[in-house]
Amino acid sequence: MGVYKIAVLKGDGIGPEIVDSAIKVLRHVEKLSGHSFELEEGLIGGIAIDQKGEPLPKETLDLCLQADAVLLGAVGGPKWDNLPTSKRPEKGLLQIRKALDLYANLRPAKVYEPLIQASPLKEETARGTDFIVIRELTGDVYYGEPRGIFIENGKRVGINTMRYTEDEIRRVVKKAFEIAMKRRKKLTSVDKSNVLEVSGLWKEIVEEESKNYPEVELEHLYVDNCAMQIVRRPSSFDVIVTGNIFGDILSDEAAVITGSLGMLPSASLGERYALYEPVHGSAPDIAGKGIANPIATILSVSMMLRYSFNLEKEAQAIEKAVEKTLEKGYRTPDIYSEGCLRVGTQQMTDAIIKSLEEVWQELY
Ligand code: IPM
Ligand code: MG
Repeated sequence: MGVYKIAVLKGDGIGPEIVDSAIKVLRHVEKLSGHSFELEEGLIGGIAIDQKGEPLPKETLDLCLQADAVLLGAVGGPKWDNLPTSKRPEKGLLQIRKALDLYANLRPAKVYEPLIQASPLKEETARGTDFIVIRELTGDVYYGEPRGIFIENGKRVGINTMRYTEDEIRRVVKKAFEIAMKRRKKLTSVDKSNVLEVSGLWKEIVEEESKNYPEVELEHLYVDNCAMQIVRRPSSFDVIVTGNIFGDILSDEAAVITGSLGMLPSASLGERYALYEPVHGSAPDIAGKGIANPIATILSVSMMLRYSFNLEKEAQAIEKAVEKTLEKGYRTPDIYSEGCLRVGTQQMTDAIIKSLEEVWQELY
């Protein structure tokens, strides 16, 4: 039986509530599976700024460097909104991604049948949607130099640099092919190679790598066209791989078509480290009210079990438990519709744990 060390960074807003829920589920997985999880907490985001003067204190980073995986809640809130970008809670996120070299960000977009009416798309378009956006996370215009606001001929000019090395592209593209192999074996690579040189290189590397994965059906789309196809034919996608900035934008679009931002987990993977967090933010307006949807964080734990610890059986049990709970009609306010059972964070968590026990009995 494995022993796994997890760094827990609850962060701001609803972060602590939803992470507590996910830990409760994890403790039940521990009981059912016999594996054990050692948790240690660290500060990140606004709360770290308040207590330590910076969004990612050194002791937090050290804790993450010693852990097998990191579970993060959310960062940010109105209290820190007026700070300069270099001092904001979000900076902690950007720093940790870079420091742990988390180059592949996995954002699944899945339409759950019981929630299909929540999708802004027509039911027949949304039905069956189940794809994953793999966004490169440590390069591109986010980190490229030179950057800044400069003076040229007495006028201000803003500069950011889109930059990718061959190796940076190759490692994320390989990861995407590998994940496609474990899914429905279809990969869509997204670029803007009709305009950008960086994208031309991206496409070249994807073509080179595709020779090593002949079973994977490959398609290339320009980013603008892809944005359109995601709302026209979402169920045709399996794995989408793209750079940092395009992935930032497309993953929000992908999230909204599922109709349930509160349901979407994410994984950020490197060679050595991995971080798991819900796609949604810290939702300061509902923090402390006990109504936040814990499902995205619970599903992030499921991704952790799959990608960091190779516990596929346990990962699937959590996913099935979530679906079963939705089928039973439990809904937090963000996904509520008429005739369902309106519940808070705690009740939703307990209902998922009950379903988990049932699923485990049925399957294992
Ligand atoms: C995301 C967010 C972040 C990003 C912000 C908060 C820096 O939008 O995780 O998608 O742009 O990467
Ligand atoms: Mg974003």
